[in-house]
Order: sequence, then structure tokens, then C-alpha cells
Amino acid sequence: MDLTDFSPTDPRVLADPYPYYAELRRGPAARYVELDDLWVVSRFEEVGEAIRNPATFSSKALWALFGGVISAREGARPNVREFAAQQPKSLIALDPPEHIPMRRMAAKMFTKRAVDGYARMIRQISEGLVDEMLERRDGGEVDLVEHVLHPLPVWVIADILGIDQDRRSDFRRWSDILIHRLSGQGDSAEERADLKQMIDYFDQLLRERRAERGDDLISLILSENEEAGDLLTDFDMVNFCALLLSAGNETTTNLLGNLFNAFFLYPDQLVRARQLDDLKPVVEEILRWESTVQGVVRLTNSDIRIGEETIPADSIVVLQIGSANRDESRWADAERFDVDRPQLPHFGFGTGIHHCLGAALARLETEIATEVLLSRTAAIEPGAQAPDRTANIILRGFRTMPVVVKPA
Ligand code: HEM
Repeated sequence: MDLTDFSPTDPRVLADPYPYYAELRRGPAARYVELDDLWVVSRFEEVGEAIRNPATFSSKALWALFGGVISAREGARPNVREFAAQQPKSLIALDPPEHIPMRRMAAKMFTKRAVDGYARMIRQISEGLVDEMLERRDGGEVDLVEHVLHPLPVWVIADILGIDQDRRSDFRRWSDILIHRLSGQGDSAEERADLKQMIDYFDQLLRERRAERGDDLISLILSENEEAGDLLTDFDMVNFCALLLSAGNETTTNLLGNLFNAFFLYPDQLVRARQLDDLKPVVEEILRWESTVQGVVRLTNSDIRIGEETIPADSIVVLQIGSANRDESRWADAERFDVDRPQLPHFGFGTGIHHCLGAALARLETEIATEVLLSRTAAIEPGAQAPDRTANIILRGFRTMPVVVKPA
């Protein structure tokens, strides 16, 4: 495969990036892509080394996405550092030392123990959505994304935050807008007005919970913040809630979409999954095989040598998790989706200091939703219409997935 015109933003690459990744892994450890003025790193070892080196690989580059830097191919590129300096404090885009106290505080809210306490609620929501989907199916065909995969994580995080059920549709809209902004395509006046509404809503919640604490996450954020000596302003706390919506919803929807797509491509694996008592290996395999976060973006603070290449300071670097997770030097027959393969740590949730805060929650949601979908259906098959893929250099999943389902 010829990589001369390779670009990770090219629709042909996004349609099926894996043959390109395989070719990239055979080449130099880092590759400059002139068309997008960025670097890509594709092998497991080098991706891991870079993610674990936040002193050189700054997370401020995340703002390059919001600022439209990556999509701005023509004209002068906005300066990422200047743009980042104007943005609110967001855990995912902070570097040490600022990242450390905020992460310590946030980690207390998402411990495995805290998350396990949500299992019953997640099951109830999953069962309600799946049952409603089964009732609604029209001639047997229904959109799995619209009815189950998209609402599920939004409803779950809304419940965790202690949001009224009648605000769920607002939450869904806000979450979609936040994700749309990640695509760097700018935002409309309407979207900005909607986000203002979201900020006002979280502000109001903070005020209410400050007056009377409950057992929801907003109350916990307030208590942890007090204990940490008011590390965050109200504005930072609102932004933290917005981060949970943007980092957690689309990713979980996509992971489940990728899983059912994998089942349709490998029907023997669906049969196998139906036999398993424990779906954890299935969740790990889909995180590896089709990582919903295909790449994390960094900005180099200094020149850095990777293999034989030197990436100059102030470069945007895409660390290709989707490729690293299919590295044949780590996994035998890596291109195959195989729920029985021996488990090895992967980068589906990143690694190092920014390792996904919501990993335990996302794993639990995916496991429970899959279990409910499999146990409540006798068959689940692709519908007549092809699913609609969504893909950019960061996220990979499905916008729609028509399926034919037969209740158990
Ligand atoms: C960070 C993946 C679900 C909250 C990350 C990172 C990845 C990731 C790869 C590292 C980003 C980087 O290094 O730049 C995923 C996947 C998910 C998922 C694949 C679902 C399948 C969630 C959920 C939440 C969440 C459900 C919260 C409710 C966060 C936060 C960070 C993060 C706050 C930033 C942590 C930090 O910077 O210290 N996620 N995520 N994620 N994720 Fe997730």
C-alpha cells in the first residue's frame, strides 16, 4: 500500500483505517503527514512511550481539535498554545503539575467500588430501553443506536449526576453538541445558546446541592472540592460535568456499536458470546479490536526522538491507539476479533496519567447492556440497510445500526 498521500483525516482512510495502520507499523516509528501538518505514531511500544511522557507530549493539543486547528488545512493555523490558554481548566487537557491535584480529586469519585454501586441502575435502564426497542420494532427492523446505544450512557450519567428524568432529552442534545465541537467544524449560534443553557442548568444544580446535599455526583464533587481546599471554581466544576458528558457518552455508544458490528462480521463470535457467563473478555476484545478512541492528540514541548525520527517542538502528534491495539508484535492474528484470545493490557482507555477516568463505568455499562441485549433476544442480525459509520481521527463508531431482532 502506498502511503505517499496518506492522511488520517482522508475519508478513504477513515472508512477502513486498518490496512493503512498495518503499513504505517511496518514503516518508521513516527511519520510526518504534510497534508495535515501533523505526525502519526502507530506501533504499540512507541505509542505507550509517548503517552507515558507527558513532560514532552502535552495534552494541551486537545484544544487543537476544538479550535479547528487540525481541520484548518488552508490559511494560517490558529496557535494551539494561545488557544489553549484561553480555555477553561479541563482535566483531560491539563499537564502536570496542574493535572495532579485535580485528577486525585476526580479519581475519588470514580473508584471501582463507587461504580459497582451503579450496576443495578444501569441494568434497570438497559432493560427498559431494550424492552421498549423490542416493542417498537416495525416489521422486525429497528435502529439499535437510536433506541438503546445512544440513550443508555446519557441516561446513566444523568442519573449519576442526580438529574431529573424529564431533563434527559436536554442532556442528550448537550452531549451531542459537545461532541460535534470536537470535530472542529465550528459551532452555530443555536449550539452556543444551547450550551449556555447547559452551563446555567449546572450552575443552578450546584447552587441547589450546595444548599442541600444528596447522594449524587454533583454533591460529591462539592464535598471533594471543599476537602481539597476549593481547588475548583464553580465554572471549573461546570466544565468538569461537561467533560463527563463529552468524554463518556459518545465513546460508550460507539463501543457498543463497534461490538455489534464485530458480531455481525464474525457471527461465530456472537454465538460464542451467548455461551459465556462472563462478558468481560468480550468487552476487552472490542476495546482492543475496534477502539472507539482511535487516537489521542498531543503537542510536543521540545524536540523528541522516536526511533530514527526527530519530531520537532510544537508539533501536533496523533498517537494511534487503534493501530497500537492491532500491533502484530503484541497480539497473534491481531486483525481478528476473537473473544477467547488471551487477555493483554491494551490502550483502549489510554494509559499513564490521563488513563480514562470512566473506564470502570464504561466497562460495566458495556457488559450489562450487552448481557441484557443478548439475554432478551433470541436473534439479533443486521438489518436491510447498511449501518451509518461515524469516524474522525479521534472517534470511531456508528450513527445508526438497523437490526432485525427476535425477542427471546
Ligand atoms: C480519558 C477512552 C468512557 C471520562 C480517556 C482517554 C481515553 C478514554 C483513551 C485518555 C485520553 C488521553 O490520554 O488524552 C474512553 C472510552 C470510553 C470512555 C473508550 C468508553 C468506552 C468514559 C466515561 C467517562 C469518561 C463513561 C466518565 C463518565 C474520561 C475523563 C478522561 C478520560 C474525565 C480524562 C482523564 C484525565 O485526563 O485524567 N477516556 N473513555 N470516559 N475519560 Fe474516558
